[in-house]
Amino acid sequence: MEKKLKSHGAWIGKWTFILAATGSAVGLGNIWGFPYKAGTNGGGAFVLIYLLCIVMIGVPIMISEIIIGRRAGNSPINAMKRTALDSNSSSLWRLVGWSGITAGVLILSFYSVIAGICLNYIFIAAFPSEVLTSSDQFGAVIASPLNLLFWHTVFMLLTFLIVSAGVKNGIGRMVKILMPMLGFLLIFMVIYAMFNGAFVRTLEFLFAPDFSSVTAETFLSAMGQAFFSLSLGMGSIMAYGAYMPKDQKVVPTSFTVASLDTLVAMLAGLAIFPIIFVFNLEPNSGPGLVFVSMLSAFNQMQFGQIIGTFFFILLSIAALSSSISLLEPGVAYLSEEGFLSRKYAALAISLFAWSLGIGTALSFNLLSEFNLTPGRNFLDSMDFIANQILLPLGGMMIAIFVGWFMNKELITNEVGYINPIIYKLWRFFIKYIAPISVASIFISQIL
Ligand code: TRP
Repeated sequence: MEKKLKSHGAWIGKWTFILAATGSAVGLGNIWGFPYKAGTNGGGAFVLIYLLCIVMIGVPIMISEIIIGRRAGNSPINAMKRTALDSNSSSLWRLVGWSGITAGVLILSFYSVIAGICLNYIFIAAFPSEVLTSSDQFGAVIASPLNLLFWHTVFMLLTFLIVSAGVKNGIGRMVKILMPMLGFLLIFMVIYAMFNGAFVRTLEFLFAPDFSSVTAETFLSAMGQAFFSLSLGMGSIMAYGAYMPKDQKVVPTSFTVASLDTLVAMLAGLAIFPIIFVFNLEPNSGPGLVFVSMLSAFNQMQFGQIIGTFFFILLSIAALSSSISLLEPGVAYLSEEGFLSRKYAALAISLFAWSLGIGTALSFNLLSEFNLTPGRNFLDSMDFIANQILLPLGGMMIAIFVGWFMNKELITNEVGYINPIIYKLWRFFIKYIAPISVASIFISQIL
């Protein structure tokens, strides 16, 4: 007899899943990561390869995660275990869930520190310094351990509060407010940039591919970015899939979420680069792009205080709706097993991630010389272990499981009726294209 697990309840209406999954996907990865990666990788060619990766690897794996999650209705660990057992495979597939939850906690620990800097910047943009340049300002922000820890704590507390309120009351309600607000603010930013920035130059930069600058590295970085941006490989989407209503169509929904995620990344590029170009700032200035370059742009433009404040509110909202999906899989596991109530499970995991985050906060200042793994400080080590080892491994295993091991009837039950050609294409991508491509990122990153 299988043990009865605690049920989490389902989301009402089809928009809640779409908003929650889009909320998870759209985050620092889109608004801070995508523009700077496109900037450092030469623009158009990177964007094109990124789009191919979304369609060929991202969407097929997203469909697979939702199928597993919804069929089981449980956290990723139990969803993998049950689905594997029901397909006459080994219950060891649950290890995919474990590695995902581990990756989620590691990502959450540093995500919260960076998102804390975004919260801090709401106030910095609202009350700009008269004396500091924007790069000195950024330097001052990251030089102070107490400042970073304070904002890291505030951000983690917000994440904890939403997740502990539960699926329907917390996450479901929150994203209904957060996501439309995000869309509204972003479109406002693009319109502003269209009239006040170098818009034509931006269009050329982002959409006219120059293949002379493409290397193997560009390809790998675009694939990694696609993966991270869609929240794949760790069970965020699988956990949310567990709450998706049974009558909602998996394949069209995945396309909707992936399109919205891609749209936001593009809008972020269209909002950021015109301002970068009009002030003659460098598009390839790296991870500091948002914090240093945008702030100096806001400081110079008319109404910059108001627009800048809006911008960092937007970034913090996007980060918050992603961080809750990093916390949810672990919380769902602990609470469905009956180990802890949802509230205490959320408290335990967020406290743990918060403590790990101290290492990241200090890696900007006191511990900047300390290497946790060879050649990498604390932040870079966390990022490396989670994003470059655990996520690709998780995504590849999910693709292999659904492509080669999961019972076909269970799959078709979840997929429901779709065009047979689309179904065959998806099968082909999930069996061959996705595992082989992800394996090659994984191997080349390890080497
Ligand atoms: N996708 C989010 C972003 O772009 C981050 C994120 C949330 C994530 N959940 C995830 C990344 C799961 C990988 C796996 O910022």
